[in-house]
Amino acid sequence: MDLELIRNLVKGVEDKIIDYRRDFHAHPELSWKEERTSKVIESTLSGLGFENIRRGFDNTGTGVTADITGKANGPVIAIRADIDALPVDEAVDEPWRSSCEGVMHACGHDAHAAILLGVAHVLAKIKDNIPGTVRLIFQPGEESGIHSGAKQLVSEGVLDGVDAICGLHVWATLEAGKVGFRKGPIMASADIWEIEVKGKGGHGSRPHEAVDPSIAAATLISTAQTIVSREVDPREAVVLSVGTIDCGTAPNIIPEKARLSGNLRTTSPVIRDEIPDRLKRIGEGIGAAMRCDVKVDFIPVYPVTVNNGELVDLFVEVAGDLVGKDALEEMSIEMGSEDFSFYQQKIPGILFFLGMGDPTKGTDAQHHSPDFKVNEAVLADGAALLSGLALGFLKRK
Ligand code: NI
Repeated sequence: MDLELIRNLVKGVEDKIIDYRRDFHAHPELSWKEERTSKVIESTLSGLGFENIRRGFDNTGTGVTADITGKANGPVIAIRADIDALPVDEAVDEPWRSSCEGVMHACGHDAHAAILLGVAHVLAKIKDNIPGTVRLIFQPGEESGIHSGAKQLVSEGVLDGVDAICGLHVWATLEAGKVGFRKGPIMASADIWEIEVKGKGGHGSRPHEAVDPSIAAATLISTAQTIVSREVDPREAVVLSVGTIDCGTAPNIIPEKARLSGNLRTTSPVIRDEIPDRLKRIGEGIGAAMRCDVKVDFIPVYPVTVNNGELVDLFVEVAGDLVGKDALEEMSIEMGSEDFSFYQQKIPGILFFLGMGDPTKGTDAQHHSPDFKVNEAVLADGAALLSGLALGFLKRK
């Protein structure tokens, strides 16, 4: 594929990408409420001649997928952009500031949607030269945790017939002009655990006639850390945090129950699978030692985001040509998580980071903060990288 051509086509739509971004930014919508956003996307794609356009997933009007095919029966690659906003009150004052109080595109998903529309324009211009099919996935509900948009879309068949998937995230802590990549795990998993410790309530003065769940819960909290410190290879990254402790009603009462909940994050899919049993073993063991019934529940939320090695090699090659080898930066693993991981559980995928941090513009403010600001100067590069990667994959297949 002629990368010079892609660069020129993207240049021609750069202003449009910026306009889309400002429009989405001014009209942010929370997870699974992205109706206006989805309608704008749908009408843009139908105007560009995309086929199989589908709007609305999980019985909502949100989320859009569409195909463009140059060569029938060729390989298929999907490109994903998430489109939802967050419950954050915007502190940045720009003409395209959020028009919806308390809701803000504070993670850059407005930029992701705009970049993918830019890709749509590029692909529409070279349709006949696409050596296969590109499926665009505008995904709702990335921020909604257990009700993940990616998980839902996968269950509704958006990856049927798709060979690979790619996507990007704008990244405030990576310098503008840099592009971050990593083979294998790039972002952590994020799961929730809940523990109930049942004892026998009683008078604070008569502990021998009660069974105190608070002692068992306290022992459990400290002992659970030995999973990380004594049972896991120290070279692996694991975070096991207690988020809530709920126990007792008054100082002179021995409580009946204690409830704990917390968070597990790791960058190893193997460790992620092993920890629930270990926590259960420790919980039940402490329960038996202290005469309490302990129930441990695990609620899986986001898997580890694991990049396919061959796709990363292809990306490094294409990105090196498009934005220069000096722009490429091998990332360390992020302990945040992404529901892009659900696609990668089905097919090979790559998620890369588009650096946008620039202190002189204020675009290095933290994601999810009221000061978060997208650096519009990097959006065109994002569109070029996704277009080049998708076409490079189809050509090679
Ligand atoms: Ni995000």
